Order: sequence, then structure tokens, then C-alpha cells
Amino acid sequence: MHNDTERVLLTEQEIAARVRQLGEEISRDYAGKEPLVVGILKGAVIFMADLVRCLSIPVRMDFMAVSSYGASSQSSGVVRILKDLEHNIGGMDVLLVEDIVDTGLTLNYLRENLLTRGPASLKICTLLDKPGRRRVNVPVDYNGFIIPDEFVVGYGLDYNGRYRHLRDIMILKREVYTAKEDNENCPADDGS
Ligand code: XMP
Ligand code: MG
Repeated sequence: MHNDTERVLLTEQEIAARVRQLGEEISRDYAGKEPLVVGILKGAVIFMADLVRCLSIPVRMDFMAVSSYGASSQSSGVVRILKDLEHNIGGMDVLLVEDIVDTGLTLNYLRENLLTRGPASLKICTLLDKPGRRRVNVPVDYNGFIIPDEFVVGYGLDYNGRYRHLRDIMILKREVYTAKEDNENCPADDGS
């Protein structure tokens, strides 16, 4: 376990088992189709890499990168797109894959943005759901785990760009992020 982490919340084995289940469920739901799986950089990369290999249907993959809103713009929920899709998703079945839904502002913005492009369908898959901090209700079709209101890292999730490579999902010690950012209730994030 890493020094900056409080405890393991989800082990590598628990994550792998749940990702396999999600893969089976998604494969059943999309039988006969070839969805475009869209990952949100960078937090979703590791989850998406494992998830697509648990699917028994063909898929295509694409990615978007978005900036996180600052504390002041949080209420607006406006997210800046740093890297857009390479596919034109008109008429495609799109599965949006994200690491975590917290306030819901990021996924809500992305969902509304992608819907304006006329996909045949749009579903959302998140590994983690932190319902304690939800501000907008965004429909999540597939979720791996519901977690408590703690800041977690590992398996793609970062704090200031670090810890993404850790194989388990761990709760970060509060002192790691409260020491530097006394006036923010949530650690800074370097682009999902
Ligand atoms: P919401 O739903 O608030 O989520 O728009 C925006 C982004 O916040 C990040 N986030 C976290 N990242 N550990 C992280 O590493 C966490 O506990 C956590 N909670 C929120 C995440 O990048 C999400 O896309
Ligand atoms: Mg992040």
C-alpha cells in the first residue's frame, strides 16, 4: 500500500471481477451491434482497457479529454473540451466510459454535448459512483461500485496526476490534499 493512502477500498481482484460482470452485461445489451466506446482521458483509460477486453462484441474506441471546472464555475457545470472525438458519432451506438461520477457535472455536460451530435444511442458506464456529492442527476446505465464520499486514487484515478498506476483503488489520506489546498473541499484534478 502507498504511503499517502489511508486504506484499500477496492482490491485489484474485486475490480477485475466486477469489470468482467459489466463486460458480460454490456455484451448482452449490445448483441449484434458494434458500439463506439468513448473513454474520458485520462482517468478512464485503465478501466476502459480492461472493460473492452471483457466484451464479447466488436467495438471501436475513441477518446475525449476535458478540463475540470474550477471551484467558481462548478455551479455552471461547463466543461472545456481539450480533445474531441475523431469519429462523427451521428447514427452510432455510443458508450461513454468514465472513471467516476461525483457531482455529475462532467458527465451531464458530456452527455448533452454528445446528444446534439445525433448518435443512434448513448449510454454511460462508470466504474465508481459517489452519490453523496451529486448535484445533477445524470442517468448512469452501468456502474461498477457505489463508494463513500472519500477521495480515491488508483486504477486510473489520480491526485494531481499521481497514483494512476496503482492496481487497487485506495482512499487518499486527507492530509495529502488538505495541507496544500486549505480552502478547497476537493483536490485539484488535472483533466479528469
Ligand atoms: P464530477 O461528477 O464531479 O466528476 O463532474 C468530475 C471528475 O472529478 C474527478 N473525481 C475524482 N478523481 N478521485 C479522483 O481521482 C476521486 O475521488 C474523484 N472524485 C471526482 C474525476 O476525474 C471526475 O471525472
Ligand atoms: Mg482525475
